Amino acid sequence: MFKKLAVSTITAALLASSPALAAGGLGKITDYDFSFEGPFGTYDRNQLQRGLQVYTEVCSSCHGLEKVAFRNLSDPNGPELPDDQMRAYAEMFEIWDPELRDWRTATAPDHFPESQFEGAPDLSLMAKSRVGFSGPYGLGINQLMNGMGGAEYIASFTNGFNGDEKFEAGSMFYYNEASSSWVSMAPVLYDDGVEYADGTTATADQQAQDVAAFLMWAAEPKMVERKQAGFVGVIFLSVLAALLYLTNKQLWAPIKRAAKED
Ligand code: HEC
Repeated sequence: MFKKLAVSTITAALLASSPALAAGGLGKITDYDFSFEGPFGTYDRNQLQRGLQVYTEVCSSCHGLEKVAFRNLSDPNGPELPDDQMRAYAEMFEIWDPELRDWRTATAPDHFPESQFEGAPDLSLMAKSRVGFSGPYGLGINQLMNGMGGAEYIASFTNGFNGDEKFEAGSMFYYNEASSSWVSMAPVLYDDGVEYADGTTATADQQAQDVAAFLMWAAEPKMVERKQAGFVGVIFLSVLAALLYLTNKQLWAPIKRAAKED
């Protein structure tokens, strides 16, 4: 009986964790292999730098990143831009200074500007506010191993236009297969649309993955530190559990011995 129950539970668990079923109401999401997946995954610095380039050259004309400060671009486990490059990058932006009541050149502690295009959401937390194949419909273990799939969603979304367009109520709409809906964002990624500083071939798919990885970092800049802290915690708790087990044995040993002798 118990065996049967266990087998059916395991089968159900396996079925539930398959991407097709776990996807629920989502559209077509590609299961990309990102370097930051898994309990030991880390960000790939070169990929984050390429993603920053795609964001800057393609997305930033519409989408803001207002929760991220320029100086964060030099943080460890991030794009890790050298200090002078980060400062030079910040200087490309003009921001509104409420104290001066005027525009001025941005400096390292300033934040990225807000969205410039009506209806375009800020992208700072986008990777945490969307889910991909391994979202809440899947098992907890999927989320542990693959994350929530926010980066998968963004990469699939930016690449998910099937070419259908319609003009309605005075605006253009484009069909997106990842969100399975009509959206007011036009397709923006094309092969060789950017020229990567590190020489990587800039296919549309590559750009989509790179910008998605960058946005994952923007939304969760301390992911690597969090995983490391979690790992230390697990080791600590395992040692503690072993010690408690041995202590428990030792404490009860005389009583058990006495019980046996009776
Ligand atoms: C021409 C302006 C424009 C550009 C350039 C642009 N977007 Fe958008 N984006 C929009 C608008 C407008 C929306 C809102 C669409 C809607 O909800 O109908 C949007 C929505 C989104 C969404 C949210 C989708 C959802 O599930 O709600 C994501 C993610 C996104 N954009 C990513 C990007 C990325 C990444 C880039 C750069 C590669 C980019 N966008 C470039 C205008 C733009």
